[in-house]
Amino acid sequence: MSQLANEHGAINLSQGFPDYESAPELIELVNRHMKSGKNQYAPMAGVIALRERIAEKVKALHNSEYNPDTEITITAGGTQGIFTALASIIQPNDEVIIFEPAYDSYAPTIKLLGGLVKPFELQPPDYRANWSMVKKLITSRTRMIILNSPHNPTGSILDENDIKELISITKRTDILILSDEVYEHLIYDGRTHLSMARFPELKERSFIVASFGKLFHNTGWKIGYCLAPAILMTEFRKVHQFLVFSVNTPMQHALADFMANESNYMELAGFFQEKRDFFTTLIKNTRF
Ligand SMILES: Cc1ncc(COP(=O)(O)O)c(C=O)c1O
Repeated sequence: MSQLANEHGAINLSQGFPDYESAPELIELVNRHMKSGKNQYAPMAGVIALRERIAEKVKALHNSEYNPDTEITITAGGTQGIFTALASIIQPNDEVIIFEPAYDSYAPTIKLLGGLVKPFELQPPDYRANWSMVKKLITSRTRMIILNSPHNPTGSILDENDIKELISITKRTDILILSDEVYEHLIYDGRTHLSMARFPELKERSFIVASFGKLFHNTGWKIGYCLAPAILMTEFRKVHQFLVFSVNTPMQHALADFMANESNYMELAGFFQEKRDFFTTLIKNTRF
C-alpha cells in the first residue's frame, strides 16, 4: 500500500509513521554520541542509562517499578519485542487470543512458532471486547492474550471495566499477556492509558512492548523496549540474545539523554491531542 501511495501521490494511512520530524535536539544527540565514539556493541539488554530512564518514565506515568537490570530490555523496535516475547513462550499448539483487526505481525508470528491463532472479531461502532464472548475462546491450551491499547487501527482503548474483566478471566490460570502499548501517548480528552504496569495482578503475567519510533517520531530508527517481571524477562532474553544480540548503540545513548528531560515524554499527550483535534475539525464535514 505504501508503494502504491507513493506511485499515485495518495495520502498514505497504511503505515503508522508521522509526517513531521523527530526533535532536532535528539538528532544532534545521536551525532554527538557517534562522534564521541559510542559506536561499538551495546550490552545485550541495552545501554543501562536508557533502561534507567525507562524505569523512571514508567514510575512517573504508572507508579510502577521495573528493575532496569532484570526487567527492561531494549529491542530493535516494537515488532522485535512482540516476536521475541512470543518466541520465548509459545510452543506448538499453544493457543493465543488476538483481537482483530490487529497489527499485522501477531498472527504470522504465532503461526511461525507453531501456535494457534484464536481471533476475537471486534465489532463496529466502538470495537470493544465483549468479555463473555472472549471467555468462550479460552481453553486449557490458552497460553497468551495479546492486547493493543490504544488500538491500531481503530483507536479504541481499554477502560477500567476491561481491566476488571481481564483480571477475572486470568485469575488462577497461567495465561500470559502480551500488551502492545506502542501508542500509549495517543490518548485524548484527559483519559489515562491503562498500562498493564498499573495492575499488579496483570503486571505479574505481562510482557509490555513499547516503541521509541512511535514515541519520538522516528520509526526508521527501529528502537523500542520490553518490560516484564524478571522471571519472564529471563526467558525473553534467551531469545533476544540470539535474535538481535544488541541494539544500535549511539541512538540508545541519545535517547537516554533526551529522556532525562521528563517533559520530552510528559508533554506528548497534548502534542498528539492538538493534531487529532485539527484532523477531526478538517474531516467534520466529510462523510468520514
Ligand atoms: C500496534 C503496533 N504495534 C507495533 C508496531 C511496531 O512498532 P515498531 O516500528 O517499533 O516495530 C506498530 C507499527 O505500526 C503497530 O502499529
